[in-house]
Amino acid sequence: MSSKDFLRAKIEGRKLSMVTCYDYTFARMLSRSPIDGILVGDSAAMVMDGRPSTLSASVELMALHTEAVARGAGGKFVVADMPFLSFRKGLAAALNTASVLMTAGAHAVKLEGVDGHEDVIQRMVQSGIPVMGHLGLQPQSVHAYGGYRVQGRSEDSAQEIARQATALDELGAFAIVLECVPTDLAQEITKTIRIPTIGIGAGAGCDGQILVLQDLLGMNLDFRPKFARPFLDGERTVLDTLARFDEAVKAGTFPSREESYS
Ligand code: KIV
Repeated sequence: MSSKDFLRAKIEGRKLSMVTCYDYTFARMLSRSPIDGILVGDSAAMVMDGRPSTLSASVELMALHTEAVARGAGGKFVVADMPFLSFRKGLAAALNTASVLMTAGAHAVKLEGVDGHEDVIQRMVQSGIPVMGHLGLQPQSVHAYGGYRVQGRSEDSAQEIARQATALDELGAFAIVLECVPTDLAQEITKTIRIPTIGIGAGAGCDGQILVLQDLLGMNLDFRPKFARPFLDGERTVLDTLARFDEAVKAGTFPSREESYS
């Protein structure tokens, strides 16, 4: 899979599947899965480090996770998130960040929004860096929204998101993540623009879907937005497994003779 294949998939009507990943072990597993692409999301700050938002993800943190994922991903398409403000401090600073992430092993970068950093997107595209956009709920703007809220419910806001999607398409982005927008709006954008839309909380009309890996594995049952279907009861499975280990240790049945050295 490459950024070019995203466009091909849309033309051929094939849906795209993506998940987030932040570490080598899961990346190795994903390399053996049919998943089309991996996002090293800045959600790493929340999922891996327990932070309240993505704002604390630094370029260094993203590079560290991108390197680990790229080592395990076995050639799967890896997109790395440009962290908070890293693309709003001028063209040179933005290109430096993109360079760090691409040399860490990413095949593309993702950044939130478009207004005010059109030049960054254009220069990255011209420099051979595939760019993925991110519209709708942009988690790096959580404080401007006053919380994590569905975007595009009013006519004005829907038109704004649709306009930005067209702008990203025209600037040469290869795909757009649409997060937490009404199904009808996501469907309309998907029909209007040339490049694929990858939805998260944006309904079934998008060209593909992305979920945070730990959410789809049901590893965090305290956090359950309605779009984050757990495809596994991961938390229960892990807790049951730990209880079996604990029981075996305390009963003296682990380790066995075969699991010990002579
Ligand atoms: O950082 C992230 O996990 C993301 C997804 C929600 C798309 O941007």
